[in-house]
Amino acid sequence: MSSLYDQLYDRFATALGTDPELRPAGRPEFGHYQSNVALRLANEQGRKPRDVAAEIVAQVDLADLCEPLSIAGPGFINIRFTPAALQAALWAQLHDAALGIAQTATPGRVVVDYSAPNVAKPMHVGNLRSTIIGDCLARVLMSQGHTVIRQNHIGDWGTQFGMLVEQILVEGVDAATLDLDSSVALYKRAQAHFAEDEAFAEAARRRVVALQAGDPETRRIWQALIDVSKAGFNRAYRRLGVLLTDDDLAGESIYNSLLPAVAEDLAALGVAVEDQGALVVFVDGDDAPLIVRKSDGGFGYAATDLAAIRYRLGTLGATRLIYVVGAPQAHHFQQVFWTARKAGWLPASVPAEHVGFGSVLGPDGKMFKTREGKAVSLDSLLDEAEQVAAPDVAMAAVKYADLSNSLHKDYVFDLDRMTATTGNTGPYLQYAHARAHQILRKAEAEGYWSPALLDAAGFPAGSLEPAEEALVLQLTKFPDTVAEVGATLQPHRLCSYLFDLATAMSAFYEQCPVLKAEPAVRTTRLLLCHAVQRVLAQGLDLLGIVAPDRM
Ligand code: ARG
Repeated sequence: MSSLYDQLYDRFATALGTDPELRPAGRPEFGHYQSNVALRLANEQGRKPRDVAAEIVAQVDLADLCEPLSIAGPGFINIRFTPAALQAALWAQLHDAALGIAQTATPGRVVVDYSAPNVAKPMHVGNLRSTIIGDCLARVLMSQGHTVIRQNHIGDWGTQFGMLVEQILVEGVDAATLDLDSSVALYKRAQAHFAEDEAFAEAARRRVVALQAGDPETRRIWQALIDVSKAGFNRAYRRLGVLLTDDDLAGESIYNSLLPAVAEDLAALGVAVEDQGALVVFVDGDDAPLIVRKSDGGFGYAATDLAAIRYRLGTLGATRLIYVVGAPQAHHFQQVFWTARKAGWLPASVPAEHVGFGSVLGPDGKMFKTREGKAVSLDSLLDEAEQVAAPDVAMAAVKYADLSNSLHKDYVFDLDRMTATTGNTGPYLQYAHARAHQILRKAEAEGYWSPALLDAAGFPAGSLEPAEEALVLQLTKFPDTVAEVGATLQPHRLCSYLFDLATAMSAFYEQCPVLKAEPAVRTTRLLLCHAVQRVLAQGLDLLGIVAPDRM
């Protein structure tokens, strides 16, 4: 179904043959939307803006949707939906399986690469952000009817495993008895050992060769390390309530056997060239080359991502690639995408987008660290949040804080602020949702509310109070907001929308008694509470936040 805004846009665009430049009205008394297109057209045509505006007003057929259009100032067109059109749009939304979210006409196979923690390292705040943001984007794209293929590109391959396996053998540890914490501790001992003992370093390097050659004992220990980390990641995913499962794991190691072909093919295509013993790609307008194969013959992070692109298009049939990875890797992805396009592995019809994001800062404005100066682990962060709120509320606080800031902004991890039940926070939205639920429960107990009221032909006839009208208008913007998040990949837009909805809801409560109103008005108001409850629940679900009925 098409949203009220879409209908308005189409009517204007059809009549004008150009973008009507609709904007939300600056103030409610001006109406709901405003178009300034007359100013642009008048300028192009050398005419008076007010004359052009008058012409547009006469031309566009909006009798069934809007109050008569009015012209203000130099030629602004003010647009106000009729109460009947608003109610009809909301009614249709409530009876739509997707709550009005437009289903794409061209369903894609969208690969979303997110979370991607590293084996034998603790999940850090960056992995946390990727997990939360990526999960939200996956949910939004699915809600639009796309097939989302989650790819958890965990760091399960690389030279560090030579050192780790060697350390295990030297210490005589049974790898199967490790857990995430003890494997992290082992990593630190291995690093120190590597730095101070040349014989060990040499053995670790040989161990890398053995790992690559598939030596059974080396592989067994390596696999045990992965299993230990995987269990830790899964615990975190369950705790966070994200969609990721073992089926989504597609770690760096699975591309290992494909790397030589990546190098050979790039060389054969002339995209990569030998440079001081290494195989590199000189990316247009970039001083630093992308390294496909190091001079020692080893492959790195970039080669793996190139192999992953071939796999994602060739085997997974991706029509869009999304990478949710911290902003510092922007350059890496720029180079990888450029190379893949140059090689013809990534056709222009398949967009590849790096969704970067900023850092989480401590209260001192510096990178978030523990008091001992270590990076903050996911568990400690969530534990801390749960000191001040129940688990569902703590999780909502942490996730919402992450999603509600525009992606590129660094933000301060401020538990008091993010767990507050007022203001633009996850818990506030959970409370708004529970409050709507509570009213409906109460009304149901008193015999005023039943879901069967939705079987009627529409809202009971009647005018709308300003607070009701504002609430209905906001509810009808839900589909537009989801479409915007799908297009821009910016979850904070959905957060702002839901916050505005909760704010409109609370103004409505203040100004419009629900249970004490006379029957027809009461029914309308209960239907609004029902709509708010459903849109908040659905919106929070798209953010990956649970919406409890009671709090
Ligand atoms: N493991 C990497 C890190 O922790 C992130 C991987 C992101 N995904 C990718 N395809 N490169 O920095």
